[in-house]
Amino acid sequence: SQFKIAVVIGSLRKDSFNRKLALALAALAPAEFTFEHVRIDDLPLYNQDDDGNQAVSVQRMRSEVAGAQGVLFVTPEYNRSIPGVLKNALDHGSRPYGQSAWGGKPAGVVGISPGAIGTALAQQHLRNVLAYLDMPTLGQPELFLQAKEDLFDGAGHIANPGTKEFLQKWVNQYAAWVKKHAA
Ligand code: FNR
Repeated sequence: SQFKIAVVIGSLRKDSFNRKLALALAALAPAEFTFEHVRIDDLPLYNQDDDGNQAVSVQRMRSEVAGAQGVLFVTPEYNRSIPGVLKNALDHGSRPYGQSAWGGKPAGVVGISPGAIGTALAQQHLRNVLAYLDMPTLGQPELFLQAKEDLFDGAGHIANPGTKEFLQKWVNQYAAWVKKHAA
């Protein structure tokens, strides 16, 4: 069968390292997996007053997540946590109360940063939120990547063979995790 993964990227930046990482990971996935990037840049700031009248962009995001067999979060670290745009998307997807789009979806958490500890703290904060949202989240291997020159080749693939091998292992584990948990 086919497995559709909703990819949520925590950066809106055009040249985002995290977007590049998401594309590189998708290129390593088994053939029965497809990756669809979920747009979060046009979501309004979450306001509980709008729960009964969600914006079209919110409805679109929620249905994309609901239609996926898994969710892949690829996020930078902002001030030792997740970016507000990502939290905003998570909050939108969780409401109205009792109608969360996230519940039960197997999740993967990865990230890349120029900093030495490569998004570890942001990922830990994100795991806390995903636990509450009842998303079974792959625990191992962890994937903290430091952005360095020449990490990606001209085609957007991982240039270093050792790094590529590590990412391949991560993708294989994540694919197995999704298969195990997809309803
Ligand atoms: C950052 N950056 C950053 N990096 C990090 O490793 N830990 C951090 O806490 C922060 N904090 C932070 C706050 C804000 C407001 C910005 C704009 C940036 C640097 C960040 O990792 C870098 O800008 C990355 O390039 C962001 O990821 P994308 O946009 O390339 O995917």
